[in-house]
Amino acid sequence: MAGSPQGLARVGASHRITDQACKLRFYDSWAPEYDQLQARGFLQVHGVDGSPEMLKQAQARGLYRHLSLCTLGPEPLPDPEGTFDAVIIVGALSEGQVPCSAISELLRVTKPGGLVCLTTRSNPSNLPYKEVLEATLDSLEQAGAWERLVAQPVEHWELATSEQEMGQGTCADRGFIPGIIYLYRKQERGQGEGGRPSVQAPVHP
Ligand SMILES: C[S@@+](CC[C@H](N)C(=O)[O-])C[C@H]1O[C@@H](n2cnc3c(N)ncnc32)[C@H](O)[C@@H]1O
Repeated sequence: MAGSPQGLARVGASHRITDQACKLRFYDSWAPEYDQLQARGFLQVHGVDGSPEMLKQAQARGLYRHLSLCTLGPEPLPDPEGTFDAVIIVGALSEGQVPCSAISELLRVTKPGGLVCLTTRSNPSNLPYKEVLEATLDSLEQAGAWERLVAQPVEHWELATSEQEMGQGTCADRGFIPGIIYLYRKQERGQGEGGRPSVQAPVHP
């Protein structure tokens, strides 16, 4: 669906919605056709999303041990501190979706020494959001909360769906816009606080 003309039209429509509640209702209507992220190699995958219909689709996959309805930003994650070996958020850090204020929650539920993987778009219309995101990521690193392992630009991140997304005066290569993947390791627990339990990884929206 994502690469089809209908898919491109849906993605394009989504990028024009900046109100968070409207955006989540949009995903509700899209959920039955959505091509779900396939997690690989994790035995206990937990997921959260702010769209009830997306959660129903995820449930139907039979992949997730646990799924929670949660609007990241206004609401805290439902899990205790230090629960997960890896926390992944893909395709949801942008204007009108998950605000940068949710980053501290992603870090909170990660185990000491665990990984946090985040992505965002680098196309012109997302640059103001990306700037705030990077300031948030950097301030946590300066505070010693985590260390950056990777900041990997990806030239062909996803297909652009509108002129606005590409930005005036820019030329997207074969219709693709760039993005970036960040990987952080949360600071280790101090000595004497015990070992790390078994692998769990939530897949965020
Ligand atoms: C473009 S989809 C990405 C889905 C998936 N991560 C992937 O890469 O295939 C964006 C998802 O983020 C969810 N979402 C957007 N804003 C959210 C928020 N503030 N809290 C929770 N979920 C949110 C939407 O419901 C939707 O399922």
